[in-house]
Amino acid sequence: MYSITEAATRLGVSRSTLLYYERIGLIKPMRDPGNGYRRFSEVDLQHLSALLQLKAAGLSWQECQQCLAGQLPAATLDARLAAVETRLRELLRARDLLHTFSGANGNEQTRVWHDEFLQRSPRAYRHWLSEQGFSEQETLQIQWLSKDMNENQDYMRLFLELFVEMERQGPGDEQLTQAVMQQVCTGRGPEKILDMGCGTGIASLLISHLCNAQISALDNCQLFLDRLDATVMSEGLDDRVSVINGSMFEPPFPDHSFDLIWSEGSAYLMGFESALKRWQPLLNAQGYLFVSEMCWFTDQRSGEAVEYWQAGYPSMLTESEAIAKAQALGYQVVSQQRLPKAAWEHFYADMQDRIDQLEAKYGEQRALTDCRHEIDMYRRFGDEFGYLCLLLRV
Ligand SMILES: C[S@@+](CC[C@H](N)C(=O)[O-])C[C@H]1O[C@@H](n2cnc3c(N)ncnc32)[C@H](O)[C@@H]1O
Repeated sequence: MYSITEAATRLGVSRSTLLYYERIGLIKPMRDPGNGYRRFSEVDLQHLSALLQLKAAGLSWQECQQCLAGQLPAATLDARLAAVETRLRELLRARDLLHTFSGANGNEQTRVWHDEFLQRSPRAYRHWLSEQGFSEQETLQIQWLSKDMNENQDYMRLFLELFVEMERQGPGDEQLTQAVMQQVCTGRGPEKILDMGCGTGIASLLISHLCNAQISALDNCQLFLDRLDATVMSEGLDDRVSVINGSMFEPPFPDHSFDLIWSEGSAYLMGFESALKRWQPLLNAQGYLFVSEMCWFTDQRSGEAVEYWQAGYPSMLTESEAIAKAQALGYQVVSQQRLPKAAWEHFYADMQDRIDQLEAKYGEQRALTDCRHEIDMYRRFGDEFGYLCLLLRV
């Protein structure tokens, strides 16, 4: 016979849990006639252990007891069995996926497979990832970071800590924004604008001073949106700029909601072509899409640059390929230009400062080294690639 402490240890539960099981009638230990203490027999423990296993299989306590008493209807058992088998299959798939992310199988081939799947059918890819238990934000952040899928949460946290304090989360240029807005504002000017993947909202804030439109700023990173929210409130823009946590894959707006969609450094998260296709119905007739997209500028590419982008964005297009894809989707190209080099230098100077600050705080970290590497790649090979900025019209 076992005391309550011994029984709890044998079953791997706490004393209070055992008392709870007694209270709800799962077990009725004998009492020591001398001192009234509870005494558990070997059979009690086996009974309880069986109940716990059945509970873990998803049965209610009542069903567990019925099952041990041979009174559980066969249909209930079959249904539970099917549910357990489904869960098991999901777990096995999740295990395989984690293997690929963890680096155990995370080789070049696996990454290419993921990228091809994403490019071919972005919806199916996201659905598949969510079935594996990854939130959309997790998977997309991984893509956005252009990193292997074997990075951990600390990496992500540090990355976001770096970006949230930056002026912008991707390279851009205020004068270019002004020039594009001038083109868009001829005539009546846009009344409704969507800033897709707004980050901390640099474009939304600039644009709010360049026209009177209502601006919806959408991103799926709450950390960035909190910062934008604070700026919107402090600048008294809350009646003009709505901050929305949502997905660019399934934008939460009806068709024909906007006169202008602004996408700086965000279309590539879906793949350029998929993004242009998916967002087109959101535009009103004659609506505009401004998009900046990383493209190859030359066919004379250095091996190192090719290798870098092969890992980060294998489906990266040339400028003429991107334009051809936009036209094939029915967009008219209103203007095209490369983001000026000064904008990249400005962005990377800001990033360099943040790296230095965070390195002083946390020491050398992989996320920071990767960012340094990105800067270095741009400084050495920035003539070969960069942002193509397109103003398109439907
Ligand atoms: C390169 S940053 C550009 C941010 C901003 N447009 C700028 O230029 O500063 C890409 C942004 O897309 C956001 N993002 C990533 N996946 C997203 C998704 N599925 N839906 C909405 N936003 C997303 C990221 O959180 C990030 O803020």
